[in-house]
Amino acid sequence: MDFFRTNIIESFNFLSGSFLISSFDLAYNLSKIVDFVNKNLTQHHHRVAYIATAIAAEYGLNLSRIKNTTLAALLHDIGLMVTSEVKNLSTFDIGDDSKLSHSKIGSYLLKEVSFFQELSDIIEKHHFKYKDYPDIKDEPLIIFLADRIDILLDRNKASYYQKDKICDIISSESGKMFKPEHVEAFLKFKDKEYFWLELDMPDKDKILRKYIQYDIYDLNIENIMEFTKFIGQLIDFRCSFTATHSVRVANTAATLSKYCGFDEQKQKEVEVAGYLHDIGKLGIDPYIINKNGPLTIDEMAEMRKHTYYTYYILTSLEIFDDLKYMAAFHHEYLDGTGYPFHLKANRLTTGCRLMTIADIFTALTEDRPYRKGMKIDKTLSILETFAKNGKIDCNILDILKENIDEIQYISKSLHNEVIAKYNNFKNVLI
Ligand SMILES: [Fe+2]
Ligand SMILES: [Fe+2]
Ligand SMILES: [Fe+2]
Repeated sequence: MDFFRTNIIESFNFLSGSFLISSFDLAYNLSKIVDFVNKNLTQHHHRVAYIATAIAAEYGLNLSRIKNTTLAALLHDIGLMVTSEVKNLSTFDIGDDSKLSHSKIGSYLLKEVSFFQELSDIIEKHHFKYKDYPDIKDEPLIIFLADRIDILLDRNKASYYQKDKICDIISSESGKMFKPEHVEAFLKFKDKEYFWLELDMPDKDKILRKYIQYDIYDLNIENIMEFTKFIGQLIDFRCSFTATHSVRVANTAATLSKYCGFDEQKQKEVEVAGYLHDIGKLGIDPYIINKNGPLTIDEMAEMRKHTYYTYYILTSLEIFDDLKYMAAFHHEYLDGTGYPFHLKANRLTTGCRLMTIADIFTALTEDRPYRKGMKIDKTLSILETFAKNGKIDCNILDILKENIDEIQYISKSLHNEVIAKYNNFKNVLI
């Protein structure tokens, strides 16, 4: 099924200048992938956002604070991408919040996205209990309450039929885990059927939008770069062996695009696609990502899903219409033997082709748990075999070889820079 046929055009149609996107769209779509990781808690982020928004509005927060509550709720567990705390979080009372690292990680990484900075502090405190921190702002306490309500709800039964039990448990923690005024606001929904029915609706997009008009940002490529670098780190920091992968692919691809004649704006767009190319890996089991040895056939099949996930996620973001092909087709080969779409040369633009080469080049030169990174000569000879077999573009490979010193220099200095950042980041976990 060639469902993207009409969207692919031979002369790559790049974005130009700036474009409009709302903070809500970015957070809402990113939260979809965060939920891939915890298959037992489907739509957790969308549901928590719905509950938290309803409570915040009922409690009387002003519109700008409701907006931040919704956005932070949509991203509250984003730090889970780099930890394995998922199981513990399904217990109603987790105990000591200071032992949880996912809130610190999420907050730490989000600090770097200038337009999401206000969310960082809220996310850091989203497991704080009222009795331990009675003076903190309402937003994190409301998200904590909403999060615990969602944890209590059994996904196999309609929420409406669980309302009495849920409201009893929540009431019993008023003044302890939760702020009494927030509990009071929540209890106002107890007998309002629509609240429980909306909670079980599959898509919260329209429902959440009815509460508030979200800011529309006129994001330029620099803002997008900032956001996608953050996503790149989220992907890479899951495993020490790939801690610099996305940043190196992004910069290798951008350098290749420069020598392929792309203008400066287009080079930046290639770089953005590089940061995003493995975003689908966020949906892959951390066990496979961190496995200390070669993958079995089944694990490999699981890992290969990531390219489709990249495609799936980026398709939901309208702004990435062109970037998504460069990002999502990085495992496609010119002879149709790649995956997941098995596209052939006539469907793979220069941008897609150079991304594939940048990805293979980076992967081969990286250390893996079961092998050391390859030396440059061996890497290039493997790439030459790929080109001879009709899998990758010979002209782009020639460009890589001609500029190998510059590419290696950029790659090494970025590696050192990002490793320093990664080590800093690991301190957050302690
Ligand atoms: Fe959490
Ligand atoms: Fe949560
Ligand atoms: Fe990949």
